[in-house]
Amino acid sequence: MSVVVEEYNPLWPAHFQQIRSELASYLKGVSVKSIEHVGSTSVPGLAAKPIIDVDIIVSRENLGPAIDALVQNGSFTYLGELGIKDRHALRDPKQSPQRNTYICIDGAFQTRNHLALRDTLRTNTALREEYADVKRGLAARGVDIVDYLKGKGGIIQKILKESGILTEEELNAIDAANTNVERIGATKTAKLTLREFVTSDVDGYYELESDPDVVRYQTFEPFTYEQAKKQVFEILRDSACIPRQHIELAVTHENQLIGRVGAMLDPNSGKDGQPHLASLWFSFMPKWQGKGYATEAVEKFIELLGRRPLTLEIECDPRNTRSVKMAERLGFERVTVTERAYESKGEMVDSWVFRKSY
Ligand SMILES: CC(C)(COP(=O)(O)OP(=O)(O)OC[C@H]1O[C@@H](n2cnc3c(N)ncnc32)[C@H](O)[C@@H]1OP(=O)(O)O)[C@@H](O)C(=O)NCCC(=O)NCCS
Repeated sequence: MSVVVEEYNPLWPAHFQQIRSELASYLKGVSVKSIEHVGSTSVPGLAAKPIIDVDIIVSRENLGPAIDALVQNGSFTYLGELGIKDRHALRDPKQSPQRNTYICIDGAFQTRNHLALRDTLRTNTALREEYADVKRGLAARGVDIVDYLKGKGGIIQKILKESGILTEEELNAIDAANTNVERIGATKTAKLTLREFVTSDVDGYYELESDPDVVRYQTFEPFTYEQAKKQVFEILRDSACIPRQHIELAVTHENQLIGRVGAMLDPNSGKDGQPHLASLWFSFMPKWQGKGYATEAVEKFIELLGRRPLTLEIECDPRNTRSVKMAERLGFERVTVTERAYESKGEMVDSWVFRKSY
């Protein structure tokens, strides 16, 4: 979907004030330093995507309480850092006027970055005009959000340099964040949706991994609710790392979580033209097995991994015939057979490794 940039709308500050007072009511009792209108809609006269960016600025120790207050009092969904350290994204159930809501750590350089960008653009007319031209140009070319963010990287660096409040190292980190967008957008197949995990997936994840049949051939026991919660938060945290090594997506059918697909990339692969090496896993609720859904999801996931050349491995306990069939169905070849490879649930089990190169 291409990005829409509109001329400045004088109603944007009023929209922000409305959002601000809603947020303040949810955050009552939490120590908040300030709630700031940031992003292009906060700069009078600047053309912008018509989305109000809001930073709730808190000290590090108030991050947890602020997230909890928004999730519990305002029905927000916590999305994690989304690749930007110290900027925690929340999906707001109210989307009119459209907004992005973040909780930002006071003094962290990403927080200072947002404020510096806004304050410089508010006072420097020439840079404001140049920035608006770049944005209009990108929108006129019909670019998607990924190319839009990349296309703005150069002018943002110029504005931040002008602000003079960030170090060279901090400027490089912002540039890397703007040019390495590693999040995978929600994608549909014929019957399924693959998307990044969100905190509200804990219940579904628990239903999946607490099932003894699902974990029958895994080394771990069925998950407790606490373990499921911890695992979902780990997936969220790992999704924010750049470069990303652990990539795991939720698979949904009619808006219900039915399984997950993941890969762990070897950190030393992919450099100097080497193939990216990754181990692949998948797990689906028993009531959704035997319908071809897992195959459909894994095929799409491999496409979304995108990295090429790519070599993928699937490790199976050979007693796990569904998993073995799955590897074969996907065209993987068995490359190693190890007898009594490791202990699983009190017994020594064999291990088969399947491999395929893309
Ligand atoms: C491994 C696992 C994902 C495989 O699931 P699955 O249900 O066999 O795979 P699919 O959803 O792709 O379904 C394929 C089966 O559905 C059948 N099927 C029925 N309708 C179908 C359709 N419309 N299209 C394709 N296949 C269909 C296929 O014939 C196939 O059956 P078969 O294996 O008996 O030949 C699943 O068993 C699982 O989650 N196990 C628990 C976790 C686990 O052990 N993971 C592996 C560790 S990496």
